[in-house]
Amino acid sequence: MPNPPSFPVEIRTSFKPGIPWPDNNGVHINAHGGGVIFHAGFYYWYGESKYPGRDEKERADAGTHCYRSTDLMNWTDMGIVMPMDENDPQSETAVGSICERPKVLFNPSTKKFVMIFKLYPESTGYLIGYVGVATADVPEGPFTYQHRFNGGGLGHGTGDFLFVIDAQGAAWHMGVRKPDKVFVAARMRPDFLMPETDYVPVEGIERHTEAPALIPADGGYYLIGSGSTGWDPNVARAFFSKHLTGPYRQLPCPCEGVNPHNNLGPEKTFGGQSSFVIPVEGKPGAFIAMFDLWTPRIASNGGYVWLPVEIKDGAPKIRWRTEWDLSVFDRSSAA
Ligand code: GAL
Repeated sequence: MPNPPSFPVEIRTSFKPGIPWPDNNGVHINAHGGGVIFHAGFYYWYGESKYPGRDEKERADAGTHCYRSTDLMNWTDMGIVMPMDENDPQSETAVGSICERPKVLFNPSTKKFVMIFKLYPESTGYLIGYVGVATADVPEGPFTYQHRFNGGGLGHGTGDFLFVIDAQGAAWHMGVRKPDKVFVAARMRPDFLMPETDYVPVEGIERHTEAPALIPADGGYYLIGSGSTGWDPNVARAFFSKHLTGPYRQLPCPCEGVNPHNNLGPEKTFGGQSSFVIPVEGKPGAFIAMFDLWTPRIASNGGYVWLPVEIKDGAPKIRWRTEWDLSVFDRSSAA
């Protein structure tokens, strides 16, 4: 059952981080822990759909929700494109399982859209973190569940992850290994559906780094992430490496300023946790950092903080703004 409309339907001309974000139907967007791709003129935002009103402890995950936009501010609800299985309790995606942080890549050789997500069976909860894999022929889905794999190399799987393509066109699954919380990387097969190498530790990424998001810039990669405190916010981390798989060098916390809606600043990442960094189409060097404001007691109410990333003197800066638009990227330095 969708959330009921609660907001006026209006055209948005700016981003207003930290307050409810209505879709084309006046319903707060339900796509948490998400990521965004651009394909054939549209942005697609994929994220965790939470059953309206449900507590995370009651297993709120309903699958992956997709929204579509041309301007990143106004989003059309495309529905749940990879639902949890509501019919077969034996299914690997049975309702009651945890399905988090979906990320999608387009595979140019198979022409498939490949989605991977954290998938934890109901029986073991967060103990063993599988990676679920689903594919679709078009970005609007539907995505068909294919299989899961137990990555990381220690038998307990992985947690929060990056699913990214390197300069040579190879896809990588990089994430926090369970149970030792070392950040590890494996190259995926050419079809992106399974890892094809062993997992190796990524040098320079502090242990317990979750919520990773990547910014390809300055001839290398900035990686932002969080510490490991469940749904509670902590201080954001930043790293830089010339090569995707490291070695990385740690940088200062990228956040600056205070979110006036909750009075939280850099020490708590404005109350949020990173999920993805969006490259803005047609604006080289323009990136938007996405954060979730988790509300585990009514998970579907979780909010979003989207802010421009400024890269200055070899480090990313993400400054709080109460209202902004894409013209910040046209000025020589995002003011
Ligand atoms: C966070 C993680 C989320 C979710 C949560 C559960 O650290 O980033 O995706 O798994 O823990 O407590």
